Amino acid sequence: MDDETRTPDAASGAPKPGPRGVSRKAVLRAAMVAGPAAVLMGGTAAGAAPALAREARAGKDGEQRLEPTPTCDDGDDPTPPQTEGPYFKPNSPRRDSIVPPGAPGTRLKVSGFVFGITCRPLANVLLDWWQADAYGQYDNTGYRFRGHQFTGADGSFTLTTLRPGLYPGRTRHLHVKVQAPNQRILTSQLYFPGEPRNQTDPIFDSRLLMNVQQDGSGLVAAFDFVLNVS
Ligand SMILES: [Fe+2]
Repeated sequence: MDDETRTPDAASGAPKPGPRGVSRKAVLRAAMVAGPAAVLMGGTAAGAAPALAREARAGKDGEQRLEPTPTCDDGDDPTPPQTEGPYFKPNSPRRDSIVPPGAPGTRLKVSGFVFGITCRPLANVLLDWWQADAYGQYDNTGYRFRGHQFTGADGSFTLTTLRPGLYPGRTRHLHVKVQAPNQRILTSQLYFPGEPRNQTDPIFDSRLLMNVQQDGSGLVAAFDFVLNVS
């Protein structure tokens, strides 16, 4: 792609479509998850690829507004927060990997961007993650599989973790709180395509499916957040 080496517009911070309608953020995004060529070839390891916010923008010339990232609610109210569930703990460590040393499980890298409602990439957005370990257990005394990070100047983030295990009553999921500077917190969850329990978990919302690809023995996943801020 001939805009591969271009950088985001320094003045606006907003990616602009490339010569063939490929947005700069799409190119940035592709570079972030580039490991396996399969990532760029469409299709997923476990079902159809959900649309990413950046693709929605790239595919609609002149379309500037995106739907806010849905919480696991029916979505009639503007970005209503979903219950965080019983296992959130404040004051998680700041780190890009929440994998405890020696923890067993399937490697999972989650990356994406955080955008405002007008598609502006949002820098310094707090992402506070928590999840079950490979056995479906939360660490409620310490901070195993808990951590927070901030988006970069281009709105990007990458989290290194392991695929969370299942526990009774829920499908496979990650928890996250997303907060742009001085804005309200979006509490949400991310899901995995092709999970049988996606059909029966009443909290599951297909709008929160990640695009998950096999990467050797591990998984790479992509998801873009869109916050209801301009
Ligand atoms: Fe949970």
